[in-house]
Amino acid sequence: MSDNRPIGVFDSGIGGLTVVKSLRHFLPGEDIIYLGDTARLPYGTKSPEVIKGFALQDGNFLISRGVKLIVVACHTVSSVALEDLKKDFPVPVIGVTEPGAKASVQVSKNKKIGVIGTIATIRSGKYEEFILRNNSEVEIIARATPLLVPLVEEGWIVHEITKEILRIYLNPLREDNIDTLLLGCTHYPVLKKVIQEVIGEEVNLVDPGRETAQEVKKLLQSQSSLSNREVGRLKIYLTDLSPNFEEIAKRFLGLPIEHVIRATLSQLNI
Ligand code: DGL
Repeated sequence: MSDNRPIGVFDSGIGGLTVVKSLRHFLPGEDIIYLGDTARLPYGTKSPEVIKGFALQDGNFLISRGVKLIVVACHTVSSVALEDLKKDFPVPVIGVTEPGAKASVQVSKNKKIGVIGTIATIRSGKYEEFILRNNSEVEIIARATPLLVPLVEEGWIVHEITKEILRIYLNPLREDNIDTLLLGCTHYPVLKKVIQEVIGEEVNLVDPGRETAQEVKKLLQSQSSLSNREVGRLKIYLTDLSPNFEEIAKRFLGLPIEHVIRATLSQLNI
């Protein structure tokens, strides 16, 4: 049996394309509809109530396009609104927090795990909750690193300023001897190389987006609802098209992007 309906993916912006990149790697035959709410980015500095409201609108947009499953690529939304989304939608909803937390516990040997993310993600305590659910003995050092999103958006990936900011953010985690660092934000995989350099080669970096893509594959396999296509299509909707969105999107997806459609805010019932 197969199911050729698309997988829906949403994020507060273009950063969630890092998750799409992993989905296309593990599930090349799946059609994907992506919604990036670029008009209202960032979510990570907003209150849980506002984030939940936005997330419900984003998810409804995907439901109205007939998706078979929703992947919440945004760590902020996954941390503060996942339960509400699961209750509200008639299809399975998978966030990035649970798979990311599970993977970090599996790779850590000394059971000292660092978590970095937006202010809302870290404040929610969700990553801690899921890590401790997997192993209650783990020591977690969580830190909000809000300057990283604008740096990545600006394209300052290999840049002395970025490295210096990372040193300030990550040195305390280094001194605490973490052996695993969970990259709890869509934008951080783009900085993987420089994060590794600053935190040290011996520290494992966990990208929850990659883990989530594997979870999605397992779920679709278990429900016999994989597509039977050879090559899936990717359709990208953004709520605002900034002048340099193509360049930024390429950074996240690792490929030039095609078929970008402007989703008007009225389509999101705003
Ligand atoms: N997508 C957000 C996340 O993964 C980062 C950008 C934002 O703050 O909206 O947490």
